[in-house]
Amino acid sequence: MEQKLNVHALVWQDQKLSVLDQRKLPEIVHYQVYVTAPEVAEAIKTMQVRGAPALGIAAAYAVALSVQQHYQADNSAWRQQVATEIKLLAASRPTAVNLFWALDMMQAKLEQLNDSPVTAMIALAQEIHQQDIAANLKMGELGADILADAQGLLTHCNAGALATGGYGTALGVIRSAYQRQARRIYADETRPWLQGARLTVWELAQDNIPSTLIADSAAAMLMKSGQVDWIIVGADRIAANGDVANKIGTYSLAVLAKYHGVKLMVVAPTSTIDFARQSGDAIAIEQRAASEFLPACYAHEDSLITAWNPVFDVTPAALISVIVTERGAVFNPAEKGVGELNDE
Ligand code: MRU
Repeated sequence: MEQKLNVHALVWQDQKLSVLDQRKLPEIVHYQVYVTAPEVAEAIKTMQVRGAPALGIAAAYAVALSVQQHYQADNSAWRQQVATEIKLLAASRPTAVNLFWALDMMQAKLEQLNDSPVTAMIALAQEIHQQDIAANLKMGELGADILADAQGLLTHCNAGALATGGYGTALGVIRSAYQRQARRIYADETRPWLQGARLTVWELAQDNIPSTLIADSAAAMLMKSGQVDWIIVGADRIAANGDVANKIGTYSLAVLAKYHGVKLMVVAPTSTIDFARQSGDAIAIEQRAASEFLPACYAHEDSLITAWNPVFDVTPAALISVIVTERGAVFNPAEKGVGELNDE
């Protein structure tokens, strides 16, 4: 089925990158226009753009911007400046492997190019973007096939068009499944950053798909009520054994799902699989500032109150029913891991 893409996190136009500022949603739809890599690195750090595949695409465009700026300014010393900015981008957020995957792709291309690298670097960033959309559309269909009989779906965080090149991973599957047949769709609000409340339900509404928002703490009650058959989430990094790092709270949902007989589907392109990482224990988990949820009145020098804010957790493969990628689905990943998806 031909899909119309209504929501765009990243737009490349006139040699510039427009980034939809997700901190302002849903109240304000505002695109910030960037022409340098450090600006994009800052946009990643500060969550203007977020979601694993979108981070990879933003980083790819940022490298293209870097080459464009420095090659045009000084075509003898530009490589050193680009290398410094690639390091800056790599230090922006640690958990989503797509960021490093895209930087590696851009770096490898750069090493092959001598004269006039700008056009080729922009073309590769655009290709990475388009391939991500194509992967999402494919996963949407594969995932919807698996959900044929499901009536109630719960998602966590935002793994939609806002988090990717377009269409979404988990939300792409939910979009495709809903197009085939109306279902109940629930979204966790996703504390502390509220990706579910601010982004996911908004994004679904852009496509006229109704949804119900729940407080994260209502998930157990919802599962017990029998209203949900499947939890559908994205991923930031998948280890070779099938363990999945994703937004904090995914692990809690997985434990609850097991107890209540609800299935768990992880949807992610193969660019999210870190085949070199044997298990989830080896995945770096980003810690963000206490100020994301600690009331400001506690944040003074001699305060006795602090906050612990890991923004991802690792769900063991044993709690996952299926991992859907553009290369196919792996059921019960705990049995053999995801090595069969490696095309190298
Ligand atoms: O901190 P965020 O908003 O970047 O976290 C995003 C998630 O955890 C998503 O579920 C994941 O990146 C998959 S997005 C398709």
